Order: sequence, then C-alpha cells, then structure tokens
Amino acid sequence: MTSDFAQNPGRDGRPTWGVIGRAAAFLLLFLAACSDSGTTAPDRSTADLAVAGHPGIATRVRSLATQRGITPMPAPPHVRPALARLGRALAFDPLLSGNRDISCMTCHLPELATDDGRSLAIGQGATGLGPERIHPEGTFIPRNAPPLFNLARLDHMFLDGRVEVDRAGKLHTPAGSQLTRAMTRALKFGAVSAQPMFPVVNRFEMRGQPGENELADVPDGDFRAVWEALMVRLGKIPEYRRMFEAAYPGQRFEDMTFAHASNAIAGFLVEAFSFDDAPWDRFLEGDHDVLTAEQLRGALDFMEAPCSTCHNGPVFSDDQFHDVALAQFGPGEGNGPTGRDDFGRMNVTGDPDDLYGFRTSPLRNVELTGPYGHAGQFAHLDDFIDHYSRNADKLRAYSDADVPEPLLRGTLVDNRDAVIAARSPFIRAADFDATFVREVTAFMRALTDDRARDLRRVIPAAVPSGLPVRR
Ligand code: HEC
Ligand code: HEC
Repeated sequence: MTSDFAQNPGRDGRPTWGVIGRAAAFLLLFLAACSDSGTTAPDRSTADLAVAGHPGIATRVRSLATQRGITPMPAPPHVRPALARLGRALAFDPLLSGNRDISCMTCHLPELATDDGRSLAIGQGATGLGPERIHPEGTFIPRNAPPLFNLARLDHMFLDGRVEVDRAGKLHTPAGSQLTRAMTRALKFGAVSAQPMFPVVNRFEMRGQPGENELADVPDGDFRAVWEALMVRLGKIPEYRRMFEAAYPGQRFEDMTFAHASNAIAGFLVEAFSFDDAPWDRFLEGDHDVLTAEQLRGALDFMEAPCSTCHNGPVFSDDQFHDVALAQFGPGEGNGPTGRDDFGRMNVTGDPDDLYGFRTSPLRNVELTGPYGHAGQFAHLDDFIDHYSRNADKLRAYSDADVPEPLLRGTLVDNRDAVIAARSPFIRAADFDATFVREVTAFMRALTDDRARDLRRVIPAAVPSGLPVRR
C-alpha cells in the first residue's frame, strides 16, 4: 500500500498526491496533447499562469471538470407555489416541535446560509439563535447541522445517509415499513422529501422528553403515532387545512398524512435553496475572466488532486461515504466503549467497511457554511482543507484547543488509531503545501452564489400557529 501511494515530485517540483496525482498528470498530458490550444503540460512556475482566464489552464480545468461530471447545475424540479408556501410555513413553525419551542429553521438559519454557525447543533429546550444559542443543560446534538442547498441532487440524506433512495429507486429510512407505500407515494422530490419526517421524531432535536407533551409521550420507535399526533395539531388550525388542500389540489386534509407535510417542506427547500449561479457556473458557460488567477490555479489543483475523486458531479459530491480522518467529540451516536463515538455510515449498513464513513459534503456555497466536518471540527475553510495534508499526523495532533466550540472541549474521543486505519485510500498520501491550501480555498469561494449570502428574504412574517417565528 505505502509504495503505491509513495510521494513523487510534481511537475513543478511541488509534491503531488501519489498515484492519483500521477494519473491526473497523465490525463492532463493526454488532454493537452489532444487540445489545439496547448501542447505542453502545465508548468505552474511560469508567469503566464498568473494571468486570470489563461485559456490553456481554463481549457484544462473545463476538460477535467467534464471528466469528473462536474457539469453545470441541472434545473431543480418544478415546485407548485402553493406547495412551497405550505412548506415554508411548516419549516418555520415551532408547532412541529413537541414543546413548541423550536422549528426546522432554528438550526438551519437563513441568515447563516441554512446553518447555525455551531460545531454541533443545539436542539429543543434551548434558547437563542446561532452563536447565541444555549441549552440549560449544555446538551448538543451529536452532529453538525449541514446546509440545505441543492438537496434534490442527493440520493442520501443525513451525514450517514440513513434516508436514502437506492439505485433501483427504492426509499430506505429508519422508519422501515411504518412509512407505508401510500405515504411514500406523496414524496415527490426523492430522498429530501422523506427527510423532514425524522427531525420531528428525534427527542433532542424537536420532540422532547416523556411527560412534556403528547408527541414526547409516544414510545420511541413508534414513528407513525408521532406523525399522526402532528397531523392532529395541524388539523386544528383552519389556515393549515386550507394550505394543505391548496398545496394538494383535489385531496382532503383528512386523507393526508405527515408525508404530505414532509414533501411540502422539501418542496420549499428545493425551491428556496437551489443555487446555480456561482462564478464557477459562469466559468463553465465559457466566461474566461470570471475566476481570479488564484481561483483558476485552485480549480486545477482541485481537479488534479483526489479532491475531485470524491467531490464531483454538479454539487461537488459523489453522494458516497468516506473516512477523511476527522477527530470525534460531543455526545456521539452511542458507539464505541464510551458511547460517544460516531461510526457514521456503518451504523446504517452494519458493514465494517463503512466504519467512520460520512457522506462527501457538497461544496456549493461552502464558504458560508462553517464550521466544517460532521462534528464541526474546523471553524475555517482553509484549516479544513489543510487537514487533508499529512492527515494522520494532523489527526494525532488535534487537541482540545482545536475544538471550535469551547463548551465541547474535554470531550475528544480516543478513536484516532481506528479512524486512521479506516481512512479512504484516496487521502492516505495527501501531502501539499500552503500555496495549495490558499489556491484551493480561493477556488472554493468561486462556488458561492451571491444570492445565498443573505437568505433572510425567505423568513415569513408569521406562521399559521401564531407561535413566534424566530425561536
Ligand atoms: C436541533 C437542530 C435541528 C433541527 C430542529 C432540525 N435540523 Fe435538520 N439537521 C440537523 C443536524 C444536526 C443534521 C445532521 C444530522 C445527521 O446527519 O445525523 C440535520 C440534517 C438535515 C438534513 C439533511 C441534509 C443533508 O445534507 O443530508 C435536512 C434536509 C434537514 N436537516 C432538514 C430539516 C428539517 C426539514 C427540519 C424540520 C422538520 C430540521 N432539519 C430540523 C439539525 C437540525
Ligand atoms: C476520499 C474522498 C474525499 C477526498 C479525496 C476529499 N474529500 Fe473533502 N470531504 C469528503 C467527505 C467524506 C467529507 C465529509 C467528512 C465528514 O464530515 O466526516 C468531506 C468534507 C469536505 C469539506 C467540508 C465541507 C462541510 O460542509 O463540512 C471540505 C471543504 C472539503 N471536503 C474539501 C475537500 C478538498 C479541497 C479536497 C482536496 C484537497 C477534498 N475535500 C478531498 C470526502 C473527500
């Protein structure tokens, strides 16, 4: 293994990523030989590459992107306006939480690019939003709240993909057969339509503890009883009845289930948070000058290095699971000797090959969505990118002082040897310098759609329950 991934000096004397780097270099040579615009391999030490939009480099980046399926964003599915309106109301309504104190958007804040700015999310029973949010008992959710961009493009929801549409188009969820066929028929946007069925059953995210409310009194595992109780709540509000019937023309509220609510929320997410107009998109359309010279070099680094082995397709995710050598802290998913570890994808499949696998993060608008990693291990994008280089050493050196959230210091899990052993082969030999980190970070900023910088426009003035929207 080690010799396969041994280091070799790059064409410009900078270290490369071993086997994959060499393969990419051959590919580049091949592409360069085929293209009429340039016949030599790129030499990044020469000054001409400092020229933004250098056509040779731009052509190579475009070709490599095409190879990786990093194509322009396909148009999102059409969402009926009445469906999106219902979904928006539900997503912002604390009525969906047991104690009526938290909505979906409390953890996916529009002003923080559908994120909460925290390493780990803070659920029901807490007060405040984003950086100010605080739980009286210091309780955190085991994982980082991911952003909600372009979700119609992914077949796996959640960082371990426990809600998934398989290759045959079949839906798998933690609810098993409780999500009936009739309910599944209401789910129109793929995996994302099923996802909102689950935060509402989670005690720490939204439902609360036994004795606190009628949703929380339902025994764990009885998903349907929670969903039915939610429909009872919603059905008591005439405006919701009207909105459901407008969203699903020809159907009566009585005949609908929480799957209709879930699908409407997904419709809202798809309609409001699909983004396809970053500088990168204009570059793909043929605008040579839209990327800075640094971003263009970063794009080449990204396409050559194994980054794009995993981060590919229009949203820069292969929608698959890999161990990229990250530290573990916080309450965890009940795994390992202390119960504070998080085995990731293995918790879904039971397959030891999936140990510490997490879904490749999509990277559009990534500049806006820190902290990064499944537990928010890094506050800054450049630090996250840097961690890939000599990642086993970096993981061993990661200490309490590196945990971005002060309240989580002292909770690091001693699983490093196992995480290192299970690392993806694609990152084992990663070794690059500060220039690479700077360039690739610059490239990441070219994936930001300006319209995603401030999403407060989607916040409704009020929701049908009359509960405060900003909780
Ligand atoms: C307490 C904070 C919190 C609340 C409330 C919350 N979420 Fe999340 N959300 C998270 C966290 C944390 C994850 C990642 C969990 C995991 O992977 O296990 C997540 C994951 C998701 C995902 C998956 C995204 C992806 O890339 O796979 C979607 C979609 C989502 N939430 C939508 C919602 C909706 C809709 C609601 C309301 C019904 C909601 N969330 C309520 C914190 C929250
Ligand atoms: C082996 C596949 C793989 C390779 C190679 C890879 N990544 Fe990742 N990337 C992932 C996975 C998986 C995650 C999520 C890991 C987690 O949270 O545990 C991730 C997360 C990220 C994130 C954090 C995003 C967020 O929202 O939290 C960034 C940024 C990122 N990768 C950039 C890069 C760059 C730049 C490179 C090349 C230097 C790269 N990745 C190489 C699979 C990969």
